[in-house]
Amino acid sequence: MFEPVQSQQTYRRIAVEPLTGALGAEIRGADLARPLDDETKEEIFAAFRDYLVIYFPDQPLSHAAHLAFARHFGPVITLPQIFPVPECPDLQMIKREADAKGRVVGETWHTDSTFLERPPYCVVMRAIDVPPSGGDTAFSNLYLAYDALSPKMKELLSGLRAVHSAAHLFGSKQDPNLNRSFKFPEIKADGDREITHPVVCTHPVSGRKFVYVNNVFVHRFDGMTEEESAPLLQFLFAHCSKVDFTCRIRWHKDQLLIWDNRATYHRAIADYDGCARHMVRATVEGPRPS
Ligand code: SIN
Repeated sequence: MFEPVQSQQTYRRIAVEPLTGALGAEIRGADLARPLDDETKEEIFAAFRDYLVIYFPDQPLSHAAHLAFARHFGPVITLPQIFPVPECPDLQMIKREADAKGRVVGETWHTDSTFLERPPYCVVMRAIDVPPSGGDTAFSNLYLAYDALSPKMKELLSGLRAVHSAAHLFGSKQDPNLNRSFKFPEIKADGDREITHPVVCTHPVSGRKFVYVNNVFVHRFDGMTEEESAPLLQFLFAHCSKVDFTCRIRWHKDQLLIWDNRATYHRAIADYDGCARHMVRATVEGPRPS
């Protein structure tokens, strides 16, 4: 059991309503289409630091305003595996047509693009078109996952690095039998390139420790075989996605959401066959995990 996440910040400019005891908060009172004053920005940063996933209902933003808001959090980058928005290529889109069948983008618990040397710090995603029900995104708090481990397990993990790569997503180890409902753009990045990150990292803003391995990009610890790594990795993947550590976001048109892409997992829920879903996202770069 853990104490429900609570922000110590005093909020004057925005209203913050926590979603679950683990993470997530709804934010009202800010018009993101207009330039933000410093106090509002500081309060948004504090809510984001403490709740990890924050969402703003009713923000019918232009692409330019969406990008400008995302840039408050750092430089916007693009990911090789996601299609750009044609009229604004710094933004990328996740779009599923009503007649699509099969797996959706992000259907396995993961942290985005940890195969990069400097994986995204956060993602700012806006709903353009949503199903009448379904199509939620679930998130999990990896600080809580770390805190809940025994001292001995923390000690063991602190000495390990994990090998991350996109080999199973768009490299040579893709499963040909995966029934994906989506295609990738023409990817120029080397899907098999490997990079190592520590298994326990410290968040650059909060200074808190979190578990940093995920089921999409990590298949072994540095210096160990996949077979040797599998039992501990499987334990960590299951532990990090325990329902106690999660929240689930119901999307509405024009809702804008930011997720911390270091100290959270996320997972798209594929329960809306027959309906379209269209999201536009800005990806913000972060420092090298350490
Ligand atoms: C993703 O994994 O980046 C997609 C999340 C979503 O579409 O809800």
